[in-house]
Amino acid sequence: MATIYREADANLNVLRGKTVGLIGYGSLGRPLANNLRDSGLRLLIGLPHDETRLHARADGFEPQDIESIIPRCHILMLLVPDVVLPELFVERISPHLQRGHLLVMASGYNIAFGFVEPPPFVDVGMIAPRTIGEAVRARYLDGSGYFSFIGIGQDATGSAMETLLALALAMGSLRAGAIEMSPQQEAQLDLFVQQAILPAFHHLMTTGATVLLELGFPPEAVMMDLIISGELTDYLSRASQRGLLQALRLSSLTGQYGIFSRLNRFKELKLETLMEATMDDIRSGDFSVEWSREYENGYPRLSSLLSAQEKRSLWALEQDTLERLK
Ligand SMILES: NC(=O)c1ccc[n+]([C@@H]2O[C@H](COP(=O)([O-])OP(=O)(O)OC[C@H]3O[C@@H](n4cnc5c(N)ncnc54)[C@H](OP(=O)(O)O)[C@@H]3O)[C@@H](O)[C@H]2O)c1
Repeated sequence: MATIYREADANLNVLRGKTVGLIGYGSLGRPLANNLRDSGLRLLIGLPHDETRLHARADGFEPQDIESIIPRCHILMLLVPDVVLPELFVERISPHLQRGHLLVMASGYNIAFGFVEPPPFVDVGMIAPRTIGEAVRARYLDGSGYFSFIGIGQDATGSAMETLLALALAMGSLRAGAIEMSPQQEAQLDLFVQQAILPAFHHLMTTGATVLLELGFPPEAVMMDLIISGELTDYLSRASQRGLLQALRLSSLTGQYGIFSRLNRFKELKLETLMEATMDDIRSGDFSVEWSREYENGYPRLSSLLSAQEKRSLWALEQDTLERLK
């Protein structure tokens, strides 16, 4: 069984007298910086280039060059996109690291696939929030907290976990809970959900809409019933609080009979084989190498995949319906 850490497992005093440096002020860096400041931590913000400096200044921070903050920080949170970090790390972070530094990443990706290799004399930890940056801030402010995966990549000082837990507490995650997990497992799990669950969901929704439109149902009704009504969101929200089976049991009896009596048809799709192949691709490192190449070449395949999606007539119908139902 995995260990689940909560507020009582962490001590904020561990961070007393320590300075936390945030490198990156984007979707996650910005909410985390604000949470950590509200928790009373001393922060320095180091930014790779000028664009996000305006956001940091608007929030009352004084962003500085990365190189200048590293020697003045005890903890460094590396909050730039995963594909961007390896080069930044080698060129601008690693040369300035000192014994006792704790490096914290918000995903296990670079450690898991060996794209970032920290020197042996620093601690390395991961606190990977399981929600988007906006919710990280909103749930800190409303006191509900948010789930994270927490794990150690390297423990040079012998006290990495204690410091990491204090940081997770200050970030506002431990109110909900942090599940201990290695960076390797976190990266594999995250990529699996992105590559084996979400594409299937996307395919189900778009195929369902196409079939219904071809059968002559009005576009507004189809788009509203599938997505816009929020019925599915309510269902998933119930599932996140009570579990999937209990959420299903809240459907009408007709609904429950329809779901369970037709479930076997979907088993014929052999999804297990597809999912195992997806995980093999992730674990072998093939996906991460492919993604690094894609980044280095300026995202040619991603651009063409996105433009092919954008050309689908379904999205115009979706936008029209959203407009009409405003
Ligand atoms: N976003 C989330 O909700 C979320 C949730 C959980 C975990 N994470 C993890 O958090 C980490 C940060 O992700 P993020 O979504 O916050 O990233 P992001 O918003 O895309 O970017 C964060 C920072 O990186 C800088 N940056 C972007 N591209 C750059 C480049 N090519 N060279 C130099 N700097 C660059 C940005 O500066 P500019 O804006 O000035 O370019 C910004 O300061 C990742 O490890 C991610 O997996 C994110």
